[in-house]
Amino acid sequence: MTNGLILPSRALIQSEDASRIRHDYERFRCGMPGEIENYLLETYKLDVSSRYGARRIKNPFGKAAGQLSLNLNQVQGDITAGLGFVVLKTVIAEDDKGVRSMKDWAVKESKMVVSRITGKESGEQGWNVTWQGRGWHGSLASYIEFFKAALELGRGGGTVIVPSCKYHLPGPEERDFQMEEYAYTTRLLEQIWRAAGQEGPLQMEKDFSPTLAGSDKAKQQETVLNWLREVPRRIKNCLPNGSIVLGIKLMNTIFTDNFQIRAFRALLEEGEQRPDYIVYANRLYDQGRRFAGKMGAAYGGPDLSARNLRILTELRSMELRGQLAAPIPALSGTGNVHSGKMALEYALRGAASVQMHTMFQKPGSAYGMRIGTKTERALHELYFHPVTGLVPWMLHLREAKETPDHDGVLSFQAVTEWYRNKGKDYFLA
Ligand SMILES: Cc1cc2nc3c(=O)[nH]c(=O)nc-3n(C[C@H](O)[C@H](O)[C@H](O)COP(=O)(O)O)c2cc1C
Repeated sequence: MTNGLILPSRALIQSEDASRIRHDYERFRCGMPGEIENYLLETYKLDVSSRYGARRIKNPFGKAAGQLSLNLNQVQGDITAGLGFVVLKTVIAEDDKGVRSMKDWAVKESKMVVSRITGKESGEQGWNVTWQGRGWHGSLASYIEFFKAALELGRGGGTVIVPSCKYHLPGPEERDFQMEEYAYTTRLLEQIWRAAGQEGPLQMEKDFSPTLAGSDKAKQQETVLNWLREVPRRIKNCLPNGSIVLGIKLMNTIFTDNFQIRAFRALLEEGEQRPDYIVYANRLYDQGRRFAGKMGAAYGGPDLSARNLRILTELRSMELRGQLAAPIPALSGTGNVHSGKMALEYALRGAASVQMHTMFQKPGSAYGMRIGTKTERALHELYFHPVTGLVPWMLHLREAKETPDHDGVLSFQAVTEWYRNKGKDYFLA
């Protein structure tokens, strides 16, 4: 165990498995087989199906909300490539007159730069996207059209599609939440969901983004804690009981790890309603980073996953010691998932899915696959990379007898239960 990671530096697997993975990685450089999940089951006896919120997903890999999920070509490409789920770009809530208090967040991106980044803690090299821009820059009406059409594309494609929204958050000097915006937007999203014949209640994410972490509003800790206590019930109360499965996407605050835990606990323990799942956790924010003539920018890379995994370890440890007033809800991990191995680091801490942005935006030369879309290339790398792929590392867990198989099949879901079974001692140490 080094760098706060659970998995060792090298996978211990049978040599015939290692050569089969190398062979697959090479031959799939020119294109992956269709129905990859069946291939993994038949060839490697790995079941990669899982859950994202309340929905069953065919594999744990999803696209996180952002610039790569804001048009139908992107959504169609992700469905064709075989992602488990796609979270659409975050829309800014409006009331029925088109008023949106968070209009400053409806900004079209004007500059986006993808570059290497070195982790301050580990010295590890990673990738980072720096950009200017925030939420969906168009109206709610235009988002609704996009959402409707995206759900239509997702029908029968086996990829779960969900929306993401940013609602009004009062600053320290404001008294109340703009509930007309909450109600109008949530109800509209739910109507579209139902009209599209989606299975079960509306599933959606509420985004607390790192751009917020840099705003004046979020400089006061009590303000942030109040949002976390209040927002789940404010959203859920807009709809009849049981009509929504709500995911809260937490941001990394600009404060210490202790405050980050405090914030998680406010969400979990102090509100009248809890989220149904938590997306952990949106990027880091550096107030001293200059980008496009402005001070302050969000960033990711190795420091992001290091912080997220550290906090998740601490939270699981508190949960197992009985120190939390409620169990941690379902988790979806986000932040520097650049390999199947990193996806498993989140899964070993109980995340049932992972959602990525940067992994799909690297330059073409950074992938082993020579053709295809970035999503296809990313999946090839995530599953089959001989050193860092999901396949060698799931086989490692089986070989090390860390996770039980059923009839010789190891499931991704069994990995997500490791923390309370074989892995319990790791968290209690
Ligand atoms: C260019 C860009 C735009 C983003 N836009 C959103 C957004 O609209 N809503 C949101 O919830 N997260 C947004 N994010 C955060 C990503 O969804 C993701 O959670 C985060 O980047 C961490 O994952 P990664 O390390 O794989 O990039 C954005 C990230 C980037 C880089």
